[in-house]
This record gives sequence, structure tokens and C-alpha cells, in this order.
Amino acid sequence: MQRIPISTGAPYEVLVGQQLLEQAGTLIEHVVSFQKAVIVTDDKVAPLYLEKVLASFSDQYHIEVFVLPNGESSKCESELFRLFSFLCEKGLTRTDLLIALGGGVVGDLCGFAASCYLRGIPFVQIPTTLLAQVDSSVGGKTAIDLPQGKNLVGTFYQPKLVLCDTDTLNTLEPADFAGGMAEVIKYACIADRALFDTLHEPLSDERLVHIISRCIEIKAQVVAVDEHDTGLRMVLNFGHTIGHAVEKYHHYTDYTHGEAVAIGMVKILTLAAAAGYCPASFADEVEALCKLHHLPTVCDVPEEELFAVCGLDKKNAGDTIRIILLKTIGEASIVPMKHDRFRDFLKGN
Ligand code: GLY
Repeated sequence: MQRIPISTGAPYEVLVGQQLLEQAGTLIEHVVSFQKAVIVTDDKVAPLYLEKVLASFSDQYHIEVFVLPNGESSKCESELFRLFSFLCEKGLTRTDLLIALGGGVVGDLCGFAASCYLRGIPFVQIPTTLLAQVDSSVGGKTAIDLPQGKNLVGTFYQPKLVLCDTDTLNTLEPADFAGGMAEVIKYACIADRALFDTLHEPLSDERLVHIISRCIEIKAQVVAVDEHDTGLRMVLNFGHTIGHAVEKYHHYTDYTHGEAVAIGMVKILTLAAAAGYCPASFADEVEALCKLHHLPTVCDVPEEELFAVCGLDKKNAGDTIRIILLKTIGEASIVPMKHDRFRDFLKGN
């Protein structure tokens, strides 16, 4: 098992390894004291893993379960308030605990609820998707969606512990595993050439533990410097500016988030090469690796749509957008661009 310390205002550890669900109760009891806990999960994950997690707690704890319908549409106000009502009904107090067991939707909503209920109660993340293990469960971003857009209401609120059991990845749909690999490729691109090279080799259980741990270490380094996303943390969004435009253009249905990020990484590097910011080989190398991991790489979003959506990107400040490019594969750079320049950039100039 790997232990990765996260040095945020409230520090904690991420544990990565196999058969962690079976030890969840014991591992959690070591870092948080509580009487009652509510496990928040969804109706796809519960039949697979809930029993194992429940069985890992000793009888002295009172554990309740709250089940969301699987899918992004659950990351909403009505499910959040249904959870708040459940917590009141079960009499959860500030010395109790929430546990998120599932993918990014479960983790984001449960974390947001934990940050608001009684002005904050402890929570633990048990992410069961590759994307949640390498990205959303670590670093304390929580949110729900609004009808106007994704992640529009949220908080920074760190968990007490994150348990990444790589055995849970065995039941992922191939497209969901590939989507997680897109985020892994992103980490390699922005911070670790050796990891990028490793990703060309076949995956084994041991290699997967190493890869996930390395991604979390990279995120930990960034988050330790910029917990509240005011500067450096935006490098974690490499490929995401165009990726968000791809997701939106395809109505969040044709591509998973990770698949859209793969398209976004290749497109931004292709544009950067055309505009002379980097050699064309960067886009070629990233495209080849994405294809190796069964990820799409062709961007069919019209330039005007890209400009419109990117103009709303959170990395905008006034008339300037900050785009994430690569100095080399393994090192990111943040490039500020006026909107007029960005329009030309999208034209390949
Ligand atoms: N997912 C990007 C971040 O946590 O900042």
C-alpha cells in the first residue's frame, strides 16, 4: 500500500493499494473518531462494494446508507437536500462522519454536503473510478451542478482520508477506465516525462498502483502550493478548456469527461504547434498515447463554438484567457492570451 501525504491547511493522507475496501473501517477508525457514519453511494456502486465496506466496521459503530441514482444528474440541489434531510432524520452531529463511496458525482456531492451540514462535518473519500482516484477525490474541490452549468456551486473542503482501492477498477466500463487514463496522461504531460513513457507499457495491478500514486503525488505538490485554485492549480486543467467545449457541444452525452479531455489535449497542442508555441511532435506523441489507451483525439467543434465556450472558462480574467501549454512533455506552462489573440490562435495562427 502507498501512502501519499496531502499538505493542505488540514493535512491528510491518500492510501493507494489493493483490498483496501476490506480494511476501510479499521483504516478510517485510525484517523477519525466518530459514533455514527452515513455512507453516501449510488445504485451502481452499492451492489458491487457496499457490503464489503459495511463488513469492515466493527459493531461499535452505527452505519447508515444513503443511495443516489447513478449519474451526473444526481449532482443536483434536490439530491443534496434529500441528503440533508436524511442526515437530520438520522441525527448526525458534528462528531459523526460522512463517507463517499463511488465516483466523482458521489464524492463531489457528499463532500459538498459535508462542508455545509452543521457548518461542516468530517468526511472520507472512497473513490471507485480511476478518474475519481487520480483527480476528483484529492484536493478538496466539492460541488453540485446548477441547470446553468456544471460545478457552479461548491466549496474547498478537504477529506480526512482518501482510500483508493485499485481492485474497484476491475468493474469499470472500458470507456470509463479510458476516461480515467486521459487524466493520467494529463499528469504525465504536465509533470512527469518518465510517467509518460511508462504509460506505453502494459498495465499490471502493481503498475496501476504505482501510476495512480504518482498522479496523486503530482496533484499533492500542486495543491500544497495553491489549495484554493488562484494560480498554479490551473495547470491541472491542461486539455480541459477545449475539453469542456467538446463536452458541451456534444450535450454531455457522446463523450465522457476524460474522453473530452483527451480531445482537448491533442487539439490545444496542435493549435500551439501551428502558432509556433511548441513543436508538432508534442501533439503527435500525446495523440499516439491517447490512441493506445482507446481515447478519441479528433475535435469536431467549430471554432466559433470553441471561442464562445472557452470565453466562459474559469481561467479567464477580464479580457485575458490563460491557456495551459507544455514547455516539454513533462512540464506545463501557463500562457496568458488576450481574447483577440486567442481567436487567432483557434484559427491556427
Ligand atoms: N480537477 C482539477 C483540480 O482539482 O483542481
